[in-house]
Amino acid sequence: MAAVYPSPTLNFIVGKNASGKSAFLEAIFLLGRIKSFRSTAIKSVINSSQLELVVSAEILQMNGAIAHLGVQIDNKNYYCRINHQTTHKKSDFAYALPLQVIHPKSYELLDAAPQLRREFLDWGVFNDNENFLLNWRKYKKALAQRNSLLKARSLKELNVWNNELVYYGTIVNNYRQSYLLQFKPVFIEIVAKFLDLTDVDLRFISGWNTDKGLDNVFIEDLDKDLRFGFTHSGPHRGDIQIIVGSRLAKDFVSRGQLKLLIMSLKLAQMQLLKNQHSNIGCFLIDDFAAELDIINRAKLLQYLIELECQVFITTTEPSDFGDLSHIKNYKMFHVEQGNIIQV
Ligand SMILES: Nc1ncnc2c1ncn2[C@@H]1O[C@H](COP(=O)(O)OP(=O)(O)OP(=O)(O)O)[C@@H](O)[C@H]1O
Ligand SMILES: [Mg+2]
Repeated sequence: MAAVYPSPTLNFIVGKNASGKSAFLEAIFLLGRIKSFRSTAIKSVINSSQLELVVSAEILQMNGAIAHLGVQIDNKNYYCRINHQTTHKKSDFAYALPLQVIHPKSYELLDAAPQLRREFLDWGVFNDNENFLLNWRKYKKALAQRNSLLKARSLKELNVWNNELVYYGTIVNNYRQSYLLQFKPVFIEIVAKFLDLTDVDLRFISGWNTDKGLDNVFIEDLDKDLRFGFTHSGPHRGDIQIIVGSRLAKDFVSRGQLKLLIMSLKLAQMQLLKNQHSNIGCFLIDDFAAELDIINRAKLLQYLIELECQVFITTTEPSDFGDLSHIKNYKMFHVEQGNIIQV
């Protein structure tokens, strides 16, 4: 068991390879997202020599109240509690502890399948508008129904579900669009601080040809949808792209630039959450030095200090953090063989 009393500002975590630094960040991530950031299997966060994992924390909420969050995971299930009440809603945790993580695999965000980018976008939309989640869930439920009708080739009821999809899909798309309208200028401003790239743009892809309207697209797609047994168009195919000049950033910027663009996306979400909702989240940065050169590391620390969010940053060498003499109220922790102590 370990207990940590972190600083509300910067927390530096140092330890050798395989000492347990990423595992510590996983514990925090688990509380905010009820999943792992390194693996798709939540179970992988349990120490394999143990039967279960319990993580709990007291979180200062933006209304000044303290929320007690607790998660317990065993081989089969997970149990979540907020203020000693059992809940099954992951969204309650996401609202209570808004967090972002940057880790060595984060650069995949722009390269991987759209699913990851949709999740990224929707985290922002979800925090921006409390009605988003309900509409997105209804959309996904209708989508599952429509897909099973397509597979069964039962066309009779299809229209009912088309109407549901058009109704909820339009709402979901509008929420996404209005979020991105606010998000884009914040993102572009952050990019300008870290990168020497001109003409950076963020493009939103709805997931269908919006000139035609979703109802018409369903009619046009019907043959294709029946042949493959799933719905080809809609907000479930939504995506975002970063464009530099007229090209997709992922196809030609350097790997370092790609990492900075992705870092800027994540910083922009936190910045917007603060600007629009006075909500200050928590930032996790794993393998700080592996990700950034020394100048960008210093800039990032400065940005995070000004953002006033709580930050947990890991590295193997204390010198990777650079000169900390001008930074107030930070705490330094040392991790060794799975134990964490403040130094
Ligand atoms: N589910 C698990 N059960 C037992 N051990 C695990 C589990 N998952 C990871 N480990 C081990 O725990 C140790 C600490 O892993 P962790 O990734 O936290 O190290 P780290 O300090 O982040 O190292 P690095 O600097 O290399 O990133 C490693 O030896 C790892 O293999
Ligand atoms: Mg690690």
